[in-house]
Amino acid sequence: MTDEPHGLDRGLTNYGDQDFARFLRRSFARSMGLSPGLLGKPVVGIAMTPSGFNNCHRGMPELVEAVSRGVLAAGALPLAFPTVSLGEVFLNPTSMMYRNLMAMDTEEMIQAQPMDAVVLIGGCDKTVPAQLMGAASAGLPAIQVVTGPMSTGRHNGQRLGACTDCRGFWAKYRAGTVDAEEIAVVEGRLSVTAGTCAVMGTASTMACIAEALGMSLPGTAAIPAVHSDRLVAAEETGRAAVRLIETKITPRRVITEKSVENAVRVLMALSGSTNAIVHLNAIAGRLGIRIPYARFNAISDATPVLVDLKPVGEGYMEDFHAAGGMGALLRELRPLLHLDTVDVEGRTLAERLDEPAGWVDRRVIRAFDDPVSPVGGLVALSGSLAPDGAIFKRAAATPALFESEGRAVVFTGLEDLSARIDDPDLDVEPGDVLVLQNAGPHAAGMPEAGYLPIPKKLAQAGVKDMVRISDARMSGTAFGSIVLHVAPEAAIGGPLAAVRDGDRIRLSIRDKRIDLLVAPEEIARRLDGFRPPPAPARGYKALYRRTVTQAPEGCDFDFLMGTGEPG
Ligand code: FES
Ligand code: MG
Repeated sequence: MTDEPHGLDRGLTNYGDQDFARFLRRSFARSMGLSPGLLGKPVVGIAMTPSGFNNCHRGMPELVEAVSRGVLAAGALPLAFPTVSLGEVFLNPTSMMYRNLMAMDTEEMIQAQPMDAVVLIGGCDKTVPAQLMGAASAGLPAIQVVTGPMSTGRHNGQRLGACTDCRGFWAKYRAGTVDAEEIAVVEGRLSVTAGTCAVMGTASTMACIAEALGMSLPGTAAIPAVHSDRLVAAEETGRAAVRLIETKITPRRVITEKSVENAVRVLMALSGSTNAIVHLNAIAGRLGIRIPYARFNAISDATPVLVDLKPVGEGYMEDFHAAGGMGALLRELRPLLHLDTVDVEGRTLAERLDEPAGWVDRRVIRAFDDPVSPVGGLVALSGSLAPDGAIFKRAAATPALFESEGRAVVFTGLEDLSARIDDPDLDVEPGDVLVLQNAGPHAAGMPEAGYLPIPKKLAQAGVKDMVRISDARMSGTAFGSIVLHVAPEAAIGGPLAAVRDGDRIRLSIRDKRIDLLVAPEEIARRLDGFRPPPAPARGYKALYRRTVTQAPEGCDFDFLMGTGEPG
């Protein structure tokens, strides 16, 4: 069988096969019961990700149907295929560990199966990054559509949305101001529809980034999961995928250094999830594009926060959509954006933004000269504790802690943290700095453990925030004065591994520094006896440990980075 690896216009039964091989493939295709006329059409693959373990993708069957309708109406054959699906809350040890698996699955199945273009349907946190990574490497024309955000629930007259309000209520429950009865009621009111988390968490941030990159249709990122417009968007995406067969616009044309910079601008203006930095670096890294932290900070310092959504502000994704969504935001950011980037439709950003603007709700999407904050929501730090960088979400932190110095209270890993954080005898005071080691990519797959809880005795005494530092991530729906993604991580001998109880640590957001106030010789001496934790012996986890990169490289596997498509 002679398969042509990347050939376009190959169709289901025109895959470079000859003679008996072709005859065999045609006869198997016929068993699907499709007319010969339809079988001869170009094929749009639909990478679908429904799963009983993924609540965020509950609407997937309807979306696949709508995409298929659009593909058929535009004269091509839609063929849906499954890939790994990652439901954020049902994966152990962390969904992050499986993002690269899904990216590999997506890349390989796009390449191995006879399709001319592909529609990617994802939603929950890791799925959109995985699909974009895979599609970038596969090199076939691709378009993204997301499942869309959940709508809010109601509790005693208050709107609730996963998962910022989950955290808010749980913190009150831990502090004793919400009782067991109420928390049980709230549990049923936080996640009440299909779709992804209702706030500007990782899933919503990545949906907006996909649109900012140009990989999804304009105006589709924020449409609520249960809104009929989402089905229309899916149908339109199917039609657009058929156009892609003609235009042959691949992710490489769309995801460029300029569009990645636009995406970073959008991330800043949204005060989006810290996780998006890792994912965007991983996606860009597939195409040999790198946005160094210094560039990232330059963009952050020159980009105002314009969107007022939880976890940083007040609104929910449904409000962002109703307020004008990404179109309104991009128009405000226009003076800062590269306008000659091209989207999946082959349109420049300038052409998109030249279209008439609709009504904008300024409570949710501020005007450029009336920002929520004059500088971007996220900032990269460096210093003796994080020589290769760390990330801090200043928009979600307590300004009084921006310039602070405190005594380290060290937890050596996730087990140590859960064993001791609520111990009444824990030696901890409000001005201390909580440090978590060994929760980085090598050690633990980089779970969302960076949102260390306030020790119970301090929470009950009314302490709401403390400086917390780790090599882990935190949920995009979380908030607090939290230093994340410390690189190099403790488990590969980064200085984070050298921190001991009682050391002094200084945070300066003004100087963008995080420093361990211990003499360099002493840090070196402590790291001298460093031994990495034992590696898994076999299977995917062994591959993960051997090949995962650090946060600034996007935690991609080293052998997956770089170009998948000939330059
Ligand atoms: Fe899927 Fe939050 S759990 S988006
Ligand atoms: Mg999340």
